[in-house]
Amino acid sequence: MPSLFDPYDLGPLHLKNRVVMAPMERSRARNRDWAPDADTARYFSQRAGAGLIVTGSIAISPWARTWAFEPGLYTPTQIEAWRHVVSEVHDHGGVIFGQLRHGGRASHVSHQPDGQATVSSTDKGATKAIVMAFDEHGLPAVLVQGRPRALRTEEVPKIVGEFAQAARNAREAGLDGVEIHGANGYLHDQFINGALNTRGDRYGGSLENRIRFTLETVDAVAEAIGAARMGIRLSPFGRYNEMPPFADEAETYLTLAAELGKRNIAYVHFSDQTRWEDADGVSIPENFLRTFRSAFRGPVILAGGYLKETGQAAIDRGEADLIGIGKPFLANPDLVERLRNDWPLNAWDSKTFYTGGPAGYIDYPACADESVRPQAVLENDGV
Ligand SMILES: Cc1cc2nc3c(=O)[nH]c(=O)nc-3n(C[C@H](O)[C@H](O)[C@H](O)COP(=O)(O)O)c2cc1C
Repeated sequence: MPSLFDPYDLGPLHLKNRVVMAPMERSRARNRDWAPDADTARYFSQRAGAGLIVTGSIAISPWARTWAFEPGLYTPTQIEAWRHVVSEVHDHGGVIFGQLRHGGRASHVSHQPDGQATVSSTDKGATKAIVMAFDEHGLPAVLVQGRPRALRTEEVPKIVGEFAQAARNAREAGLDGVEIHGANGYLHDQFINGALNTRGDRYGGSLENRIRFTLETVDAVAEAIGAARMGIRLSPFGRYNEMPPFADEAETYLTLAAELGKRNIAYVHFSDQTRWEDADGVSIPENFLRTFRSAFRGPVILAGGYLKETGQAAIDRGEADLIGIGKPFLANPDLVERLRNDWPLNAWDSKTFYTGGPAGYIDYPACADESVRPQAVLENDGV
C-alpha cells in the first residue's frame, strides 16, 4: 500500500509526496492591480515541501471577482507578479497549480465592474450566504451576497473562453497547471445543481445540460494548455454558499466523473464538506467516494479535515491517491516534515485568515528551529 510520503507521478509532473496543500484564498492581494506580492511568494515557497501546492482562488476576469483582495490572472501585471511567485516556489523544489474561479452569484455587487449585478445560472439569490466585499464606504466588510442576473445563453461560452485564456496566462506565468474551481457553490456548481439551475436552454434542466458548462470549460482549458496540466475541484453534496440538495445529486456527479474520466485530465479534487465548521446538513452517502473514484478512474485528491492517519486511511480504503490539507498547512509551513516525524503542529489563527500583512501568513514557525518545537502545541480555535 503506498504511503502518504511516497512520491507520485501526476502525468508529466513528479510529486515528491502525496500531500497536497489545499487551495486557500487569503485576501493578500492588497494593491491596485489585484496582484500577488513578495509575501505571497514567500508564503508558498515556505510550503514547497507539499507534493503539490494549489493556490487559493484566482479571478479569471474582472467579472469573476468574488472575494475582497483575491488575486487575478487576467492582466499582464498579474501574470508578471505570478511569475515571481512561481519562480520562488520552483527554486524551493515545489510544484504549483493555480486555482481558477468565477464566483457567479457567490460574489457581491461591489466586486462587479460598474456596479453591475452578479451573474449565475439563475436569478435566485442566496438569502444568508456571505462574502467578503466592500461596504458603501469602500471598506472591506462581510456582506450577504445579493441577487444575481441569470446569464444569457450566449454569455456562457464567453466565460468558457475566459477560463481558457486564464489557463494560458497561468502557463505563461510558469504555473505547472491549473485547477478549475467547480466546487463550493461557485459558478460551475451553480450550473451543476439541479435545484438551483432550472434554465430552459442547453445549459439547464436535464443532467446533461447542467454539466455542459463544466465540461465545455474542461475541454477549452484542455485544448489551451493540455489535459495533463489541469484538474478540477468538485464538492458533491456540499451545501456551502447555500447549495440546495437535489434529486439526482449522486447520478449527476457520477455522470460528470465518468465524462471527466474520458478526458484524461490530471485529477479530480474532491472537496468533502462533511467536517466543515459551517457544514449545514452535509451528508455524503456511504461508499460514494469509492463509487465516484471508480466512475472517474483517474487520480483523485481528497480534502476536508484530513491529517496523517485519516489521510493514509483514505488512501488505504481506495478513496483517493492524494490528500489535500488546508488549515494545518496554513499554520505549518513544514507540514509534511512534521507529519513524517510526528512533530507537534502549530494551531491556526482564524482571525488572520483574511487580514492583510505578514501576520498569520508568513510568520508561522517551522519545526527545524529546535527552540520552537517544544512550545508548538497550541489549541486550534475550531474554525
Ligand atoms: C482560509 C481558507 C480559505 C479557503 N479558500 C479556498 C479557496 O480559495 N478555494 C477552495 O476551493 N477552497 C478553499 N478553502 C477550503 C479548503 O481548501 C479546504 O477544502 C477546507 O479548509 C477543508 O480542509 P481542511 O480541514 O484541511 O482545512 C478555504 C479554506 C480556508 C480555511
